[in-house]
Amino acid sequence: MPTPRFARASVYLAVSFVILLVTLVASCARTEAPPAGQAAAPDPAQLALFAPLPEVTLPAHGADPLVDLGRMLYYEPRLSKSQNISCNSCHDLAKYGVDNEPTSDGHRGQKGDRNSPTVYNAADHVAQFWDGRAKDLAEQAKGPILNPVEMAMPSEHVVLAVVESMPEYVEAFAKAFPGETKPVTYDNLARAIGAFEQNLLTPGRWDAFLRGDGEALTSEERAGLETFLQNGCQVCHYGSLLGGNTFQRLGAVKPYPRSSDPGRFAVTEQEGDRAFFKVPSLRNVGETGPYFHDGGVATLDGAVRDMAEYQLGRSLDAAEAARIVTFLKALTGRIPTDYIAPPVLPTSTEKTPKADISG
Ligand code: HEC
Ligand code: HEC
Repeated sequence: MPTPRFARASVYLAVSFVILLVTLVASCARTEAPPAGQAAAPDPAQLALFAPLPEVTLPAHGADPLVDLGRMLYYEPRLSKSQNISCNSCHDLAKYGVDNEPTSDGHRGQKGDRNSPTVYNAADHVAQFWDGRAKDLAEQAKGPILNPVEMAMPSEHVVLAVVESMPEYVEAFAKAFPGETKPVTYDNLARAIGAFEQNLLTPGRWDAFLRGDGEALTSEERAGLETFLQNGCQVCHYGSLLGGNTFQRLGAVKPYPRSSDPGRFAVTEQEGDRAFFKVPSLRNVGETGPYFHDGGVATLDGAVRDMAEYQLGRSLDAAEAARIVTFLKALTGRIPTDYIAPPVLPTSTEKTPKADISG
């Protein structure tokens, strides 16, 4: 259904431009620019574009059967053909949900063509993947297991055979999906992974700041926020995730020379969606490099300068870029260490299919 999707993209664009206008009007109304490097009092109207993460109580291990199953499956390398790649291989939860590679090693070391985005705070994205081709986490989770350059399982049937070969998994599925006559299904497997991922939030000092604690950010970080706002970065990076809400063209005002990825065009087949990507969240961006859909930019400073040039038609001097980087690093939150602690996985039985490292 290309037409409704395209209409949605247009609505996103329209909303973005309204925000841009409001921002520009607001910044024109501000007459006194703070001296360089000094803490500025952020404009409350502009701060209202952002929101803190919800405060959730994470279920302890053993408290929620669906989440517990999802955690096991997330860390389960036997869901891959080689039996040595799990979701955590490319989205390492101890490393802010990424592997810090431009593109990741999948089955037999094959490289995909896109950078692994973080799974932290992903639940609230408008859709999953750089091009938004999966509507939510549960739909997304079905992809990598069967993707020949990722976990490379030959079929859903083989995935289920692995799970069914271990009585502890069969029991865990029965507990997670009570009352279902056939709890072990590929959809339920993906649902469980999605339920585990749903809680992967990383609140931090930025949330305390948005809740009114002005001292939660240092004066350098607040100055960086001011520079971020003055340049209009929030036109696309807004909301509780500073991104994740819209698709935008990489090269919005000046063609981006370093990528030929069709982006969202591959999903909608609308020419107007070429080179459109989901705007990534900026939470934890200080830890999740390299940057962009192709992992083509190594440093945060480089990513910020590219953004100013290609998305906004501005050229930042070194001090401005450094201020923004200081602000972006303040968006690093806390990893939920107990929640992500790797569980003990069931032991293989003689029925468990063997690792296969052929092509
Ligand atoms: C071999 C590396 C690799 C493995 C293994 C892998 N992923 Fe990914 N993941 C990626 C890449 C690359 C992308 C982006 C692909 C794209 O957008 O086209 C991605 C995208 C995602 C996203 C979307 C995030 C966003 O911001 O849009 C989620 C969520 C995710 N993966 C979860 C998982 C889960 C759950 C598993 C295990 C079932 C898994 N991944 C296994 C590499 C991997
Ligand atoms: C017109 C929309 C738009 C504006 C304005 C914009 N961005 Fe972006 N930003 C994007 C999109 C789209 C991407 C993803 C591009 C890609 O990967 O192909 C992105 C990616 C990024 C990334 C890389 C994140 C990652 O995980 O790879 C950073 C950092 C970033 N933007 C910071 C900024 C800053 C700082 C500003 C202001 C100077 C800014 N952006 C302005 C749309 C925008």
